[in-house]
Amino acid sequence: MLRIAVLVSGGGTNLQAILDAIDSGKITNAEVVGVLSNNPKAYALERAKKHGIEAVCVSPKNFADRAAFEDAYLAQTQKWHPDLVVLAGCMVVIPEKMVKAFPNRMINIHPALIPSFCGRGYYGLHVHEKVLERGVRVTGATVHFVDAGTDTGPIILQKAVYVQDGDTPEILQRRVMEQAEWKIMPEAINLIANGRVNVSDGKVHIKDYVYGKI
Ligand code: GRF
Repeated sequence: MLRIAVLVSGGGTNLQAILDAIDSGKITNAEVVGVLSNNPKAYALERAKKHGIEAVCVSPKNFADRAAFEDAYLAQTQKWHPDLVVLAGCMVVIPEKMVKAFPNRMINIHPALIPSFCGRGYYGLHVHEKVLERGVRVTGATVHFVDAGTDTGPIILQKAVYVQDGDTPEILQRRVMEQAEWKIMPEAINLIANGRVNVSDGKVHIKDYVYGKI
């Protein structure tokens, strides 16, 4: 059984998609053992509590400096002895020490098709603002392993979403979440939980997988 710790910062819709997928059997051989937020107001914490999952807040505001926060944030994550750490709407810049603690065992959902519209400053709504500003017709979402860079780790799954005339950043964000994020994040977790994902030469290989089927 894959033990999953989910790191959140906001509404928790990606966390909810994971929990629903486990309940419906779309994800097998996995359990969420803890949810950690840096933001005490994150509704994701409520979603975890409703599901009977330990929900903890470690806020930088409660620490004298960034290093002390990062140590506590890592320590809380490790307390759950997770096999996989999932960044689901997580806005914390994960320190190198934490990335190194989970080599190819930490994944993130980015609301664009990496390597487009990613890297420093590209998070949340800003991503969709830049997509609309550039006028691309296709965007989407990416699930990738986390490495020492920003949105630079090996790509696991991606799903495209069309931009429509009249889209605002909010409308586009919602469509990308509904049509892409909430599908590829559970799918990636299920593949990992069932031993079908491996990484070699910085590239992901998924055993017997047909891309584009979800
Ligand atoms: C989503 O667009 C996600 O891609 C981004 O944060 C937004 C909110 O995610 N990282 P959630 O609803 O908190 O899962």
